[in-house]
Amino acid sequence: MIDLIIRNAGQILTCTVPDEDPPYAGALQGELGITEGGVEIHKGRIVAVGPEAGQGRAHRIINAQGGVVLPGFVDCHTHAVFAGNRAEELEERARGVSYEEITRRGGGILSSVRALRAASDKELGQAVMRHLDAFLDMGTTTIEAKSGYGLSIEDEIRSLKALGRRHPVEVVRTCLAGHTVPEEFADQREAYVNLVCKRILPTVAEEGLADYCDVFCEKGVFSFEEAQQMLEAGKAVGLRPRIHADQLRRTGGCRIACRVGAITADHIEYASRGDAVAMKEAGVIGVLLPAANHVLDQAQRPATRMMIPCGLPLALGTDFNPGTAPTQSMPLTIHLAVVRFQMSVAEAIVAATINAACAVERQGRIGSLEPEKQADVILCDIDDYHGLGYWFGRNPVHTVIKKGKVVVEG
Ligand code: NIG
Ligand code: FE
Repeated sequence: MIDLIIRNAGQILTCTVPDEDPPYAGALQGELGITEGGVEIHKGRIVAVGPEAGQGRAHRIINAQGGVVLPGFVDCHTHAVFAGNRAEELEERARGVSYEEITRRGGGILSSVRALRAASDKELGQAVMRHLDAFLDMGTTTIEAKSGYGLSIEDEIRSLKALGRRHPVEVVRTCLAGHTVPEEFADQREAYVNLVCKRILPTVAEEGLADYCDVFCEKGVFSFEEAQQMLEAGKAVGLRPRIHADQLRRTGGCRIACRVGAITADHIEYASRGDAVAMKEAGVIGVLLPAANHVLDQAQRPATRMMIPCGLPLALGTDFNPGTAPTQSMPLTIHLAVVRFQMSVAEAIVAATINAACAVERQGRIGSLEPEKQADVILCDIDDYHGLGYWFGRNPVHTVIKKGKVVVEG
């Protein structure tokens, strides 16, 4: 007898297109592969999906009650390891103080660096666990998570180790030592860039603490040249690059992504048509972070209606972080992608599942519902997928299955 059956689903979003390899771009960006019926799961894997599936016997049967069933969300951009929070900055920004001004006053990323350095390993581990519980509750079964509030060799290592603790949410780790220049290096930027290139990234790679490296390329943070230098150094030790690119102005980050062969360029509010075409040609995925755009109340939005016809595949992330995106919710992110970034709900769901799996290079195992894949499946209390973009401020996910195990009970 098989382990688990989901039956009576109103819509199953398989998030896969027969004979087409993801990431999905252009017209396929909105292709959900909708079917109905059931999903059969055995030994942690999917064995069948569709109208014929789920009729027989199983150790456990879940009735989807006509609801929507889809792959667990993959959140391909988070900063999930931090201590404390920066709630006071929200009201400062509401009074008109900009994110960059708050940073100049010693708030922003640097205040989270002080808090992380002051936290014990135990406190840091507990904070990560709390964050991961919230991700799981809202249907996220895999995240990419960056360090970047440590910014010393010890504190970057501590951060990445905290992200390595056991939890049903799978965590793909990225070293973001290039998040900003820490206070003790304020007058010696070059020395900090060297520390990142020569010590932090090599040590992280040697200890197997991350798969990727990342930098925040932005005026007042790291320049085009510094960003490229750090990403090349990461690449040389086997950490594939990702980049925070062209978020607050056009700094050229998308072009660095192409040059260094990054897997993703993230934020990309200011990406031009030329940038989008170059990224598509270089195989760089565009990662959109509408929650950060919303919290910063940014007027500039990524030009999705230009990017999608250009054939640039798009993925979505929460950007979960204490400054600009205090949310672990992919359903909210989908809503914001529709409202702020003019995506269709279907495009946003593909961006939050299979394309996001590509953005962490796990598409062979997660991100879609098809036989042989890992059984990361979520059930929602809506009867049509459009509800994922429409309802907001509540959690539509009631049951979460990770590697074939029910980890959130409806
Ligand atoms: O992705 N852009 C840079 N880093 C984060 C914000 C980090 C923070 O403010 O703590 C982001 O938005
Ligand atoms: Fe970020």
